[in-house]
Amino acid sequence: MTLIIILVDSGLEIIPKQIRAHPAITKNLIKRNFSSQLLDTALHHVAMANLPNYERRGRPDIAHSCILNALGSPANKSGHLRFFLHTVQDRIFEFNPEIQISRNYNRFKGLMTKLLIEGDIVAKESPLITEIHQNLPDLINSFGNSEVFLSSSRGNIIKDKSELFLNPKSQNYVVIVGGFQKGGFSKKILNLTDKIISISQYSLDAWIAISRIITYYEVIMEIS
Ligand SMILES: C[S@@+](CC[C@H](N)C(=O)[O-])C[C@H]1O[C@@H](n2cnc3c(N)ncnc32)[C@H](O)[C@@H]1O
Repeated sequence: MTLIIILVDSGLEIIPKQIRAHPAITKNLIKRNFSSQLLDTALHHVAMANLPNYERRGRPDIAHSCILNALGSPANKSGHLRFFLHTVQDRIFEFNPEIQISRNYNRFKGLMTKLLIEGDIVAKESPLITEIHQNLPDLINSFGNSEVFLSSSRGNIIKDKSELFLNPKSQNYVVIVGGFQKGGFSKKILNLTDKIISISQYSLDAWIAISRIITYYEVIMEIS
């Protein structure tokens, strides 16, 4: 069966209209350059101070590291992983396991801008990234026969990691990971499951949490 990772509330969005005229935005904005259209706190911090919820926005770097870790894993290469990205604007995208994501951050930002504008990334008639027109509860229900975990430093710590995935051959596992820099999950995300698990006594970066969760799954499934 499959391990399904959903990175939720990722700070991935096109620069919003209300701050487009701010000097901190215009100095980096090149109309024909896709990557410069993406909100990025490293470049737009000053302009972002006026945006609601600004602390959880403009973090394509988190999504980039998480995607590279997930799609580069043996679990993904062996066909045991599905990866979904959910954004702060409540859009959901599924990544084809075979997509080659650029290691170069600017190229990644360009791809994400194109994705947010066009909705899908297709190459040679194969869908590489596809927008899912469902909400999170419906998406999770569509997997059928699944156990759903919310991965959080505030969950019950799992000491024996072999107990995390007890029936990987007969059911799917959905693991929800926060794609934001700090703070807890919203109520909407907390309502998705009551199984909240912690894998460390420390608050980890999302890509470390993803990488470890996938590794625990690979060990149980003997994927190497
Ligand atoms: C930087 S954290 C988000 C901020 C928040 N301080 C936290 O720890 O939940 C990014 C994500 O990594 C995952 N994560 C972080 N520490 C974890 C832990 N100890 N156990 C399980 N998941 C963890 C959670 O999904 C979290 O939303």
